[in-house]
Amino acid sequence: MTFSSVKSLLAGLPPEGSEINVQGWVRTKRESKAGIAFIALHDGSCFDPIQLVVPQELPNFEQEVTKITSGCSISATGTLVASQGKGQTYEIQVTKIEVIGWVDNPDTYPMQPKRHTVEFLREVAHLRPRTNLIGAVTRVRNCVSQAVHRYFNENGYCWIHTPIITASDCEGAGEMFRVSSLDLANLPRTASGDIDYSQDFFGKESFLTVSGQLNLEAYCLAMSKVYTFGPTFRAENSNTSRHLAEFWMIEPEIAFADIDDLINLAEDLLKYIFRCVLTECADDMAFFAQRVEKTAITRLEHIINHDFARLDYTDAIDILQKSGKQFEHPVSWGIDLQTEHERFLSEEHIGRPVAVVNYPKDIKAFYMRMNDDQKTVAAMDILAPGIGEIIGGSQREERLNVLDHRLAEMELDKEDYSWYRDLRRYGTVPHAGFGLGLERLVSYITGVANVRDVIPFPRTRRNADF
Ligand code: 4AD
Repeated sequence: MTFSSVKSLLAGLPPEGSEINVQGWVRTKRESKAGIAFIALHDGSCFDPIQLVVPQELPNFEQEVTKITSGCSISATGTLVASQGKGQTYEIQVTKIEVIGWVDNPDTYPMQPKRHTVEFLREVAHLRPRTNLIGAVTRVRNCVSQAVHRYFNENGYCWIHTPIITASDCEGAGEMFRVSSLDLANLPRTASGDIDYSQDFFGKESFLTVSGQLNLEAYCLAMSKVYTFGPTFRAENSNTSRHLAEFWMIEPEIAFADIDDLINLAEDLLKYIFRCVLTECADDMAFFAQRVEKTAITRLEHIINHDFARLDYTDAIDILQKSGKQFEHPVSWGIDLQTEHERFLSEEHIGRPVAVVNYPKDIKAFYMRMNDDQKTVAAMDILAPGIGEIIGGSQREERLNVLDHRLAEMELDKEDYSWYRDLRRYGTVPHAGFGLGLERLVSYITGVANVRDVIPFPRTRRNADF
């Protein structure tokens, strides 16, 4: 007897005629006039369920099989046979069936076999992986994550586990969640009445990380090619379909490299991931193309087959100003590009992903490398049609005197960055890195519009349930 996943059975493994056992959850059940029960069983291993054909001769047919409803978990033993039914390769002629877990009240089971809205599914986040939609998203998310590790491993990168708790605000945007062991009811105070964080667990104010970048730079300047891939936290007050309070970020950092090398890496990585998803999740992608976003497959193929465009920020502003479009946010040199601008550039003007480079220094973080014009920094964002910014990165300021100047200009305390400055004092090299949000990437690939629907348990303002 072989214990099999639905995926292997539908692929004809083991061969037709084999005695097999399969376990999973009932998606639907119907009974024919002849009294045979047909059960669609899924186990998460692939998009399609497998059909169980259950004859009424089974001893527990009357007592149990007739009472099976959607959501029950079962174990079935039988013979794998070619299916007569349309659209399915194999089915199982069941010789023994056992209910492992009943649904106590079928009327209250939230996952009825029908189409649910994504808003409803968010309210039952613990059960939604049983739906076609979230099942497919989950497999694609897994495929992307595995592809990321495979890509970096194949290309000689070392995976660095950067800390979750940190005292530094990498992005300087003040969007950090505080981590504290202090008793809220009895906060220790300094003489001037401020909270005395020296009495806190770490002896100073500490936060959940907004980016692993600064720590990653330290390892880059020893290991040359590194990346980090883990949870990232932002207390951003943005209630949009693109923002989460907890998301996963992929951050590579490369030494002896400039911004052009970085854009090449971003392009190569994205194309690699897209190829993996198209080959390894073909059924799930076919579902997205049919039910969620018509172009889900073709737009990935288009990206794989075309070079990314490159555009200077100053030229981008010029294009936006001459576009004749009425943007909600007015365009002038010095603004941070908004989603509407980003989408116009990549979707309407260029029609493929574009790397916008050399942003004004005043809208960017302290660590980005100053260009010779003293007005812009070597920053780059990759904008993708249909979503806007998907990657943000830069060449890092490796010159100590310029870095110190930037820290002073931004009123940041040199002392707080002493270890970061050391990296420039002892064997500095040109280096560069970027951050790619996993949820924005999965949302783009699947066409599922809201990042809350591509992470298992979304964390957003006023939502940390489950
Ligand atoms: O542009 P960001 O803020 O860049 C950094 O954090 C750099 N320190 C990364 C680096 O250079 N190593 O964020 C990078 C990416 C964005 O392009 C976006 O894909 C994603 O992270 N991102 C978010 N995704 C979901 N929810 C949020 N609140 C996000 N904020 C950023």
